Amino acid sequence: MMDYRDYIGRPVQSLPTPAMLLDVSVLDQNIKLLADYFSSRPCKLRPHFKSHKCVTLAKRQLHAGGAVGITCAKLSEAEALVAGGIKDVLVANQVVGSDKAQRLAALNRSAMVRSAVDSETNVMELGAAAQGAGVTIGVLVEVDIGMRRCGVATGEPAVALATLVSKTRGLRLDGLQGYEGHLVMTPDAEERRRKVVEALAPMVETRHLFESRGLRCPIVSGGGTGTYDITGNVPGIDEVQAGSYAMMDCHYKKIRSEFQNAMSILATVISVTGRKVVLDVGLKGVGSEFGLPAVANAPEAKALYLAEEHCPVDNCTGRVGEKLRLIPSHGCTTSNLHRRLWIIRNKMVEDVWAIEGSGCLE
Ligand SMILES: Cc1ncc(COP(=O)(O)O)c(C=O)c1O
Repeated sequence: MMDYRDYIGRPVQSLPTPAMLLDVSVLDQNIKLLADYFSSRPCKLRPHFKSHKCVTLAKRQLHAGGAVGITCAKLSEAEALVAGGIKDVLVANQVVGSDKAQRLAALNRSAMVRSAVDSETNVMELGAAAQGAGVTIGVLVEVDIGMRRCGVATGEPAVALATLVSKTRGLRLDGLQGYEGHLVMTPDAEERRRKVVEALAPMVETRHLFESRGLRCPIVSGGGTGTYDITGNVPGIDEVQAGSYAMMDCHYKKIRSEFQNAMSILATVISVTGRKVVLDVGLKGVGSEFGLPAVANAPEAKALYLAEEHCPVDNCTGRVGEKLRLIPSHGCTTSNLHRRLWIIRNKMVEDVWAIEGSGCLE
């Protein structure tokens, strides 16, 4: 049996399927575009790990410039990042429960791993864990800027929580986080700009409120791939947490044409009926909450649905055994389904990277 590294140097078509592919020259163009964008302005990039979950890729984003650290969504992702040598991580989410608080505190022995907070209970448990471990945990007060996910209200409720943080031993108030996730996919660019600027204004006002009350606010963090050129230019925002831009899925591509699809799923045709082919990948290999995948280089082909392990495609002329590429509608949930990222250049396998964050749900 072949070892996975034995495929390096072979044609991409030789890979066992389903296989998650990443065209590294396209990846590097996407990374460079945003690195250059943020290198030349005061606001910086904090690339989101949840999109690719691969530590090697995260390091490539940091080395490209314009970035201050990495964002992630879960404590276990932060653990994977720190184990891989990343020293500055923001968990842009709530790390709740005393056991998890202790794990977060332990990470802060060897790296700076900040967390968002939006409740007094959580502030108290993070403070207790930090004291127990003899470390200081930096926290950002999360505010809800319209997404109706986590976050306290902007203004006085945020000031009240920040005041508690500033008085809690073991914690360091590092600022604010607010994510305009309800707006990142707004199709019309002008409407997106207007609504995002409007949504961010109360968070920036809260920053000024913090500063006028003597509360520390060195970092205000938010934004994503759909809004990087809006959020990244609003005075008072310090960091943009874009993630999807690096690998680029077919859903985001509709509103972000400056980035190219670097990711795809290689699949084998296992059955043919007329112009309908069936591929050997389904829901267990392709994220689909933003719709069905596209077939690469075949705009007329149409995925019909995703079963667990099958994807029937209509209007497609494949032969049994032929390998085609699907471009998922959602990269972030697709990377969570794979353990290996096959690195491709000029249709040859150049390397294989681990997806350390795959399955990191804690
Ligand atoms: C907290 C947070 N920040 C940033 C993002 C941006 O990610 P993307 O670049 O994929 O839009 C997300 C996406 O879900 C998020 O949850």
